[in-house]
Amino acid sequence: MKDKQKLRSQEWFGGLTKMGFVHRSWMRNQGYPDDYFRGRPVIGICNTWSELTPCNGHLREFAAIVKRGIAEAGGFPLEFPVMSLGETIMRPTTMLYRDLASMDVEESIRANPLDGVVLLTGCDKTTPSTLMGACSVDLPTIIVPGGPMLNGYFRGQRIGSGSFNWMIKEKTKKEDWTPDDMLEAEICVSRSAGHCNTMGTASSLAIMAEALGLTLPGMAAIPAVDARKKVMAHLSGRRIVDMVRENLTLSKILTRGAFENSIVVNAAVGGSTNLIIHLIAIAGRIGVKLELEDFDRLGSHIPLLVNLMPSGKYLMEDFFYAGGLSVVMKELGNRLHRNVITANGKTFDENYADAPCYNRDVIYPIEKPLQENAGIAVLKGNLCENGAVIKPSAATPKLMKHSGKAVVFENIEDYHARIDDPDLEIDENSVIVLKGVGPKGYPGMPEVGNVDLPEKLIMKGVKDVVRISDGRMSGTAYGTVVLHVSPESTIGGTLALVQNGDIIELNVANRSLNLKISDDELQRRKAAWVAPEPLATRGYVSFYLQHVLQADKGADLDILVGKSSSEVKRDLH
Ligand code: FES
Repeated sequence: MKDKQKLRSQEWFGGLTKMGFVHRSWMRNQGYPDDYFRGRPVIGICNTWSELTPCNGHLREFAAIVKRGIAEAGGFPLEFPVMSLGETIMRPTTMLYRDLASMDVEESIRANPLDGVVLLTGCDKTTPSTLMGACSVDLPTIIVPGGPMLNGYFRGQRIGSGSFNWMIKEKTKKEDWTPDDMLEAEICVSRSAGHCNTMGTASSLAIMAEALGLTLPGMAAIPAVDARKKVMAHLSGRRIVDMVRENLTLSKILTRGAFENSIVVNAAVGGSTNLIIHLIAIAGRIGVKLELEDFDRLGSHIPLLVNLMPSGKYLMEDFFYAGGLSVVMKELGNRLHRNVITANGKTFDENYADAPCYNRDVIYPIEKPLQENAGIAVLKGNLCENGAVIKPSAATPKLMKHSGKAVVFENIEDYHARIDDPDLEIDENSVIVLKGVGPKGYPGMPEVGNVDLPEKLIMKGVKDVVRISDGRMSGTAYGTVVLHVSPESTIGGTLALVQNGDIIELNVANRSLNLKISDDELQRRKAAWVAPEPLATRGYVSFYLQHVLQADKGADLDILVGKSSSEVKRDLH
């Protein structure tokens, strides 16, 4: 900070005027000495703590730690709450509220006398929602990811959050699990503070934050309860004050190179398909052009280096002990842009030059990866004219080229009503098609794309069939699951026109997904299609339905794309 008068907060706190008095006086009821208002950088701690977001339940403690660091560095910490999105609790899906939460964050930052921001994040949507909002203001910003839970263990076996959920139907139907078994497993899988401990969406997005350069290096993998996480939170508090002094804003860190790094890193760690939708939305806010095809072009040939569930066998705690993300950054070498600047003011190269690996069964070397070509594949074809995605590292290799008869479910209720009907015509070669789960269709594009298999196939020992939908999939899930089909069925995409028994052809190597019916028949069905009634006519959901973009555009609201700076033209009165 070359000139103290340039601090944004001084527009509120700096003047010996009536409004300066008003701004300071009410703040002083919290006991701050008057020198706090005379040129200290004011740092907002944007807290997604909530008891309804269990993955973020420890963030109040983290806020107190971050405050210590801010005060030590000469800043003035002020914590504020924002809408928190609890993945396992909110109905119908947190994704419906990601954009609403981002509006809360954006307006809370802009409207207040803040010079810099610390985002306290954890559960899946709390990272993109806060970052999207912060990007639209573009102040110096650092992320403190809350960290994963410790490993889950059940009767001697490692069990991972989320990934274990997908086995419960099989366990109860095929292995005679009792309700007591299930109750015991519940606490075993969630045994400490923190977010999901698999390489699910929360871990993928914490890693995204670090790969974008928005955390201190080495932070993403540290478990929530590890003392070293608290040290990093403390140091992040110190660092944000310097970022304000250096005017190191988000747009200086979030360059095209940073986004490309994030795509490459997500592929190497076997990260979530949800990253695609969030990264496109974040890029849209900061003004970087990022397209669905970039994920395939930049990521699909990247090898899988990290042996974590759902693609592998370990968990985030093991990843941290093995050396964490720093090892992956080093292994990726020049596949990453190494000269991009990061939150600590240093480049990738400086941050990750020295990173020893302590367990090669958890993090593989680039010359001998766990799997080749593991990144996300983007499919095109008459069934997904604007694209669809699949995560090859979580899929069954023999199903990556597959033709099968469609078994169609018109919506999620239809699926639940019929999937275990003994008379349902379905076998291991079928293709399950689920409609009505896109951004406008559900609404909010929930994580239902990896629907459970029918009981009769589970009893036959079938582990996977091709599943296609316009929804998303939990980052903890696995299977040959085609997601994010765009345009979605609810707005008349070809997915809406699929009928039982139609042949669907998936060819991941060719990046194609097609409905094998004649053009004449396709046109006939299109002409006969009737749009469903909107799912809401008032309130936020109605607003969302009018403005939400399709999955290939990041499912942001059209009016929120871009940024409006930190300027507020009118004063309080
Ligand atoms: Fe919160 Fe998985 S449910 S991170």
